[in-house]
Amino acid sequence: PRWLEGANPSVLATVGVGDLVLLDPLSEESLLSNLRERFLHKEIYTYIGNVVISVNPYRQLPIYSAEMVEQYCNGNFYAMKPHIYAIAEDAYSSLRDRNRDQCILITGESGAGKTEASKLVMSYVAAVCSKGADVTKVKEQLLQSNPVLEAFGNAKTIRNNNSSRFGKYMDVEFDFKGEPLGGLISNYLLEKSRVVWHVKNERNFHIFYQLLAGASDPLLKRLKLQRDCRHHGYLGDENPRLPGMDDLLDAMRIIGFSEAEVMQLLEVTAVVLKLGDLQLSGQFQASGMDACVLRDICELIGLQESILEQALCSRTVEAKQEKVVTALSVAQGYFGRDALAKNIYSRLFDWLVTRINESIQVTAGERRKVMGVLDIYGFEIFQDNSFEQFIINYCNEKLQQIFILMTLKEEQEEYFREGIKWTPVTFFDNSIICDLIESGKGGILVLLDEECLRPGTVSAATFLAKLDQAFGSHEHYESRKSQSDRHITDTSLPSTCFRVHHYAGKVTYNATGFIEKNTDRLYRGLAQAMWQAKHTLLRSLFPDGDPKKASLKMPPTAGFQFKASINTLMKNLYSKNPNYIRCIKPNENQAPGQFTDELVRSQVRYLGLLENVRVRRAGYAYRQPYQPCLERYRLLSTHTWPRWTGTARDGVQALLSDLDIPPEELAYGHTKVFIRTPQTLFNLEERRRRRVEELATVIQKTYRGWRCRTQYQLMRKSQILISAWFRGHAQKKRYQHMKRAALLIQTYARGWKVRRALVRGGALPLLPPVLHSPFSLSPKLQKFFLGLKNNLPPLTVSDRSWPPAPYRFLTNANQELKTIFYHWKCKKYRDQLSLEKRAAMQTKLCASELFKGKKTRYGPSVPEPFQGDYVGLQKNPKYQKLQAAARGKLVLADTVRKVNQANGKVSAWRPCRLHTPIPELPGVLAVPAQDADGTWCLLPQQTGTGGAKGDVLLVSDHVIEVVTRVHQVLLETTQQATTIHPRRFSTQFKKSSIAVTVVQGPKGHLEPVCKKKGKKMEVLVC
Ligand SMILES: Nc1ncnc2c1ncn2[C@@H]1O[C@H](COP(=O)(O)OP(=O)(O)O)[C@@H](O)[C@H]1O
Ligand SMILES: [Mg+2]
Repeated sequence: PRWLEGANPSVLATVGVGDLVLLDPLSEESLLSNLRERFLHKEIYTYIGNVVISVNPYRQLPIYSAEMVEQYCNGNFYAMKPHIYAIAEDAYSSLRDRNRDQCILITGESGAGKTEASKLVMSYVAAVCSKGADVTKVKEQLLQSNPVLEAFGNAKTIRNNNSSRFGKYMDVEFDFKGEPLGGLISNYLLEKSRVVWHVKNERNFHIFYQLLAGASDPLLKRLKLQRDCRHHGYLGDENPRLPGMDDLLDAMRIIGFSEAEVMQLLEVTAVVLKLGDLQLSGQFQASGMDACVLRDICELIGLQESILEQALCSRTVEAKQEKVVTALSVAQGYFGRDALAKNIYSRLFDWLVTRINESIQVTAGERRKVMGVLDIYGFEIFQDNSFEQFIINYCNEKLQQIFILMTLKEEQEEYFREGIKWTPVTFFDNSIICDLIESGKGGILVLLDEECLRPGTVSAATFLAKLDQAFGSHEHYESRKSQSDRHITDTSLPSTCFRVHHYAGKVTYNATGFIEKNTDRLYRGLAQAMWQAKHTLLRSLFPDGDPKKASLKMPPTAGFQFKASINTLMKNLYSKNPNYIRCIKPNENQAPGQFTDELVRSQVRYLGLLENVRVRRAGYAYRQPYQPCLERYRLLSTHTWPRWTGTARDGVQALLSDLDIPPEELAYGHTKVFIRTPQTLFNLEERRRRRVEELATVIQKTYRGWRCRTQYQLMRKSQILISAWFRGHAQKKRYQHMKRAALLIQTYARGWKVRRALVRGGALPLLPPVLHSPFSLSPKLQKFFLGLKNNLPPLTVSDRSWPPAPYRFLTNANQELKTIFYHWKCKKYRDQLSLEKRAAMQTKLCASELFKGKKTRYGPSVPEPFQGDYVGLQKNPKYQKLQAAARGKLVLADTVRKVNQANGKVSAWRPCRLHTPIPELPGVLAVPAQDADGTWCLLPQQTGTGGAKGDVLLVSDHVIEVVTRVHQVLLETTQQATTIHPRRFSTQFKKSSIAVTVVQGPKGHLEPVCKKKGKKMEVLVC
């Protein structure tokens, strides 16, 4: 078909079609063969729109792994293979994201896989919601409630080894984040008759077998039980050693049962078993009872044996303040015993559910979202159907009604409401059957209640007669009477039975036992006996045994209670968004890979799957109010994106017409838009996904662009700032430079101008041409100075070399530089001299001042150092001793000759020393000058204290040194300078002054000679 084109391959790439809506051609046959083909290829799930059909595989399939959960967790409902996880995901996500309470309705025959399906849903939800510590605890408790309830409420039947014998509806409550907070379990009508009797090949409730097989020896002893099941009357004649006792105890511990509670629970369970072992003999007397068992029971529950015995064997009727005690027949006795066992067990089961609820109930009062999972016993047709089957089938009838109302009728009515053109699809509406059973104005249940309450003798026959009278002509009711009224003979219908045409088939019910089971009466004596027991749990199960609360009013009947609870359930379900899992049983043998066509066909038929597909196909797979639809898809069209100002409906129309979707795919209702095939929706979703990616890219692009731009602008601004400052700085420097240059030029220019003016005015001679231009001069100067700097003459003081000036105009400067350089060199030389050397130098300098140019001997004396001590006086030990005592410093030690004052003869050489201070030295030192050279030295002597001695004339080889040193000392002490006398001078010899003349001796004359003649003396020097 056209709409298959472009469908998602994964929906189609399975065996057959994954969604029966896509089936072509559509017929019961094709539907069946599609299911069969898929089943044989282990594809057990198939959709009809959002309804999941599950065919029980009776074997473990590898499709429930954690990876699978992961896949479905984020997958698109239409994009994955059909799976129960998909519907669980759909329900959970719309609960979490769209805030809609959900219910998951699991229907199907016994053994079709309902309980397994409900467990899968729960485990899926537990796996996908978050994993915090307290969440995990809640999840554990919710999950662990299952094995506990299964142990007490499930049993092996012919159809199912683990058949739930009670209906269960579990509300799981979530907070706004989708995390589980807790839950609430409701149970419906436990099949309690199983406690005392079951069909051959079936079994009693699991717990009994598990207890016997798994309890430790001491525990068994404490409970007074035998390990072998065959010892216990209620358990039949097999001994199946069922495992699971330990798991059960673990589960109860996790849920929060205390040790004491578990113990009491087991004790009450044991009491039920023991009741079955109680034998009543022919004489319904105390002695006739199995005393041992009775004692065991009474010990277990803490009750006096006689009380229980009396309660079991007799009946007390109160009439007009009188108590009449009547003994019971054996049959009545057994009936009472079984009733007690059933009652205890079913009350125990109710207590169990209440106790679990206490643990898992949510306490906080915040607003919560709820997901309900309904796993209720399936439609049942047995050989002999009784009150229980009637109730069970009634319940299934109601569920079918919900399904019809919500999927078929509701859907078609919606098209009508929305004003969509629609050809109605006919389907079977089972409300007529529901009315037949439950109608408040004379339904079967009401008639039954009336019959139970009616005084006088009531029996199955009277009940049947009443039914015949009321429904003789009802098209869904049959009995012997109504058949014969219609002139039909039907031998398959026994006279004690009536038949109801249920939606899933005709069921013949045996009216016998209806009254009793509906009344569900327990002799008051038994309830009172239980109430007297010391066992707290057991006692709490029988509040009606309290004599103070005893009332004569009949308690509500079982049918009445069930109807009420079913109606509450229905209300609850109607308020939620339904999700359907329809389980189908492929064969009666619980065998894998077997597909019995007839069996499946009948289920397909009564489940109304074909009609379901038809309505689905004629209708529209998907609908949504305009506003949310526009919100979700408006990004797909340029008309509606980014802004739409018109109404939502116009928006959706503009949007969808822009998307190139075939018009027959769409219908516009008053408030909703309808989309015919899932593929279109999937297509839309896919386009939206791509578009979202595109938009994300646009956002990313814009953002990245913006970020880069702002970054760039920041950088640009910084760069401009930096370069502005830098340029400013550079320009300032350049300006300074230019300013300096300009000033220089100005200076020169002005100078030049002035010079020119002067030259023109004749005030100045022409300057050498080189000076006219300061610019041509400067490189030459530079060259000269740099040349000098690089080739300085050696730093030796004696070296007086200096390079010549390269230009004439530099001669003076060069000369000046030479002098400066020489002075600088000398200073440097001086600076590095030691103190003695410096003193010696000073002495030499002093000598130079005194004698330079005045005495011929001076010239040769310059290079010779002054020695001071010429006679080695300082080494003489005597002198050294003396020196230590002497005050003054040795100035000079030499050998001299003295001129005799009397005759002017010159003495021989003899040592002489000069010491500071020199007290006997005269203030004036006279030395004959220049040409009168020789070794002469005159030391004029002051007229001292010891009388006038006259001057002393000495002859010394070191005259320069002697005079210089004496001069220095004199200068120091007397500030008197020595004068160098000319050749002719006068001296004082003993009061007479002698005129001395120095003359040049003849050649070859070796030493000075003095010739005195009176007052004249002539000195011949060599
Ligand atoms: N999805 C499944 N995979 C494998 N086995 C299943 C599956 N569903 C049901 N079964 C088998 O079928 C049996 C009956 O299923 P159950 O859920 O107890 O039926 P119901 O509750 O409808 O009476 C289970 O014990 C199990 O062995
Ligand atoms: Mg079940």
